[in-house]
Formats: sequence, structure tokens, C-alpha cells
Amino acid sequence: MVEDILSIKAIAEEEIKGANDLKAIQSLRVKYLGKKGVLTDKIKSLGSVPKEIRPEYGKTLNETKNHIESILNQKESFFKASELESGLKANRIDVTVPGNFIPAGHKHPISRVLDEIVDVFSSLGFVIEEGPEIELDYYNFEALNIPRDHPARDMQDTFYITDDVVLRTHTSPVQVRVMQKNKPPLRVIAPGKVYRCDADVTHTPMFHQIEGFMVDEHISMGDLKGALELFLHAIFGEDTGVRFRPSFFPFTEPSAEVDIACVMCGGTGCRLCKGSGWIEILGCGMINPKVFEMVGYDPEKYTGFAFGMGIERITMLKYGIDDLRLFFENDKRFLEQF
Ligand code: DAH
Repeated sequence: MVEDILSIKAIAEEEIKGANDLKAIQSLRVKYLGKKGVLTDKIKSLGSVPKEIRPEYGKTLNETKNHIESILNQKESFFKASELESGLKANRIDVTVPGNFIPAGHKHPISRVLDEIVDVFSSLGFVIEEGPEIELDYYNFEALNIPRDHPARDMQDTFYITDDVVLRTHTSPVQVRVMQKNKPPLRVIAPGKVYRCDADVTHTPMFHQIEGFMVDEHISMGDLKGALELFLHAIFGEDTGVRFRPSFFPFTEPSAEVDIACVMCGGTGCRLCKGSGWIEILGCGMINPKVFEMVGYDPEKYTGFAFGMGIERITMLKYGIDDLRLFFENDKRFLEQF
């Protein structure tokens, strides 16, 4: 009986020797040591072995089991190691190859300048408000004292959706919406997209504006001038000349346009400023008492200033960009320069 075990041992040793991969080792382990394995069976039936030979039989069986287990383990670790090695050889990583370049995104120049403008006014205590781009005729025109026959209401300039609904042509309607909902004092800037039925080298049907206004008791034109000068110096440089010119807007009285000294020639006169030395940059004025009446403010008690400007224009002047279309083409070679 002991001989049986020794011959199983000899066969197992041969088989294990002949195994030439991990899979073969694994199936031999099952064959000899698994739940229904050859040696496991023998251990299970140890009880039926005659008493006289049981000690020797048992000892041999146990030694054989341990021996087979250990040579299986040895061969298994050998195959595992060589599998790892050949895997490493096959998938060699060359750590000296340059990595894949993942280009970082850039903020669009319009967003950059917008953020800068917002920063300046935030530092003066202005808060951001927004209004809808699809706007009622009432807010876009009527409440801003723009009469029915005003040229701005012409179909050629305004995208009408219905008789009463337009794509806002400017950010000024945000003034009315904010004032309707809040009591003074107010310091607000309102950036956003605006739309005009216009497309050529210097006009796009959608562009960006930023509106600003301040309402309180005793706000004067001096406050307007101080705020705008501070702002323009922050954006274009401390030494930039700034001038106010009388103008007209239905929603401000008095109204002014603000020029800066030409960014190209510095004021001596060139092609960009058409020889004048000045470049128009924004519209502003003291909020018309009629607008205050529309929103239920007492014009005897409150005064305020307002201003509005095109962000594309400011960006072009700040960076010397001469073609508006560049902003909308999304050519990375252009955008990467900012
Ligand atoms: N809304 C005017 C426009 O689109 C710009 C403007 C001018 C806004 C004067 C103002 C202002 O707030 O006071 O041309």
C-alpha cells in the first residue's frame, strides 16, 4: 500500500517536471491536491487502512502531499516570474520618449477684458446683475424713454421676434429691471450679449456690452467723471488722455460720449483716429428723470449716472486688433496670443 503512494509520487513528479506553463501547474494541483484530488482521496480513506501499516502509510502519504505541494509551488513561482519578465519585455516603456502634449485652454480675449472691467468696478463696490437677451420692447425701448419713431427701433437695427418682443439691442434695459426691483442706493454693472441686425467688417449681429449705473441721493456728474476716468486709466494706462463730449441719449440727461487719446498715435492724429487724435469709447450721462418715473423713483430725491460700452471695441483698442471677425472665428493661432 505504501508502494501505491510512492508510485503516485513518482508519476506526479514526472508530470510536474513536464508541465511547461502556469495553466498546466494549476491543473496538476487540482489533480493531486484538489477537493477530489488523488492524494486528498487517499487522506480521506486513511481510516480504512489496516492498523498495522497505518502509521507508516500515513507518514508517507503526508510527506508525499507536502513534497508535491512544494514542488508545485516552486514551479508555479518560476512560471509567474518568467511570465512577468516576458510581459515586461513585450511592453517595454521608453521613459525617455516625450509625453503627449495636452494644450491648455485660453480665456477668450473678450472674456479677459470683460473680467478686467468687472474687476475695476467691483473694487468700487459695483455688483453684477444680468438681464434677459430676449427682451420686451418695453424694457429695451419704452421704459428707457426711446420713443416709437426713434431710429433705433427701426426693423433694420432691431431683431423683432413679435411686435412686443425683441433681441435686446443694448444692455441698458437691465437698468430698468434692476431699479424696478430694488431701492437706491445702487451700484450695478451688467455685462452681456446684445444683438443688432447688422453685419459687415466692423459689425457683427451679436456683440457684447457692459452697462453700469449708480443711483443715490446727490450723485453728480463729478461722480460719473471720477468713476469713468479711474476705469479708463486702469484699462488703458494711467497716462491715457480722457475727454467728455456732449452728446444725446434718450435715457440720460445730460448725456456725454467719452473719448480716449488715440491708442495708436497718442493724440497726434493717424489713420485709426481719422486725424482727430481721439477715439470714442463709451456713452454715458445722468439718468433721465423720466426713467426714474418709469420705475417709481422720486426724481426730486434721487439722481444717478449710467454708462454703456462695447466690449469688442475696447478689446480691439487695448490689444491693437484691427479685424472684429477674429473674435468669432475661434482660430487657435489668434486666441493663443492672449
Ligand atoms: N445703450 C447705449 C448703446 O447701446 C449705450 C449707452 C449710452 C448706455 C449712454 C448708457 C448711457 O447707459 O448712459 O449705444
